[in-house]
Amino acid sequence: MSTGLVYLDASMNNFLTSWRPGDAEDFARKPARLKHGVADSDLFSDAALARLIEATPRERFHVNTIGHSEKDPRKWREGDMTGLTGHEVMDAVARGNIWVHLQHVHEAFGEYQSFLDELFVDIERNVPGFRSYKRSMSVLISSPHMNVALHADVPGQSLWQIRGRKRVWVYPPHSPYLPQRTLENIVLQRTADTDLHYDESYDAAADSFELEPGDWTTWPRNSPHRVRNADCVNVSFTTEHWTDELRSGYAVDYANGLLRPLCGGRDLSRATTGFSFWGKLGLTAAHKTLRRLAGNDRMPMTVDFRVDPEAVGGYYDVTPYQILK
Ligand SMILES: [Fe+2]
Repeated sequence: MSTGLVYLDASMNNFLTSWRPGDAEDFARKPARLKHGVADSDLFSDAALARLIEATPRERFHVNTIGHSEKDPRKWREGDMTGLTGHEVMDAVARGNIWVHLQHVHEAFGEYQSFLDELFVDIERNVPGFRSYKRSMSVLISSPHMNVALHADVPGQSLWQIRGRKRVWVYPPHSPYLPQRTLENIVLQRTADTDLHYDESYDAAADSFELEPGDWTTWPRNSPHRVRNADCVNVSFTTEHWTDELRSGYAVDYANGLLRPLCGGRDLSRATTGFSFWGKLGLTAAHKTLRRLAGNDRMPMTVDFRVDPEAVGGYYDVTPYQILK
């Protein structure tokens, strides 16, 4: 296993991220596909992935499934894989229809933290004025033809392709793709990030990218997106980050969600300057603190299947039960 600053060795592309003219100006403003040079890193070998799976505790993973032709993102199901070996889980991925999402891998092993830091140093070197913090990294290992439900993530996000091929559709982060009320509920963790309406007509407004090893894509904050794998196992990772601009937007959406019932249910301003903005920042900070103190900052999640490499689809159904995540 590599440690530390080894990603620019002669066996690999001599860059972490590669930028064309105009890419830096559009970064996080428009959906974009760029190139990276980390697909051959041994942080993503089968042995490394098996080790990561086994090191990831229950509160740090999702395993999901949904029908190949299912269009309704609310049909996205949560499962469990606790106690299986890394190779058993990877066999289930290869033979089944599951999506394994290992979160905060940079906290599991120092190599991933170093790697994440290096990537963002490289991005910040290329994008004038971009300063990020609270970065995190997740690894995704997913089945051939996997159909990832439309959802909207809260932080700034990028998707990096390591193995296999997939197509990503990215939709504008506003109504009808993402109504302001829905976004507020996602930000407030009152609803799942898949609690979105999808209609095939939305695709006309989407940016869509085919991702191969060496590609990465990023998009504006909260842009709903969905993914479909080609006929092959996919290994990808996501990075999440915050900036002052992202944090201000988040705080306003959070506060607007709290204030909405008091304002007749109407959409409030999303301005991130001025007197009302500062009031909303204070309201969000106070509410988040109280929520944390009350131990009320986790969301219930219904688990209704368990991964099994011998089962059709790579899992079997179980009696639904709830966990907090
Ligand atoms: Fe996502």
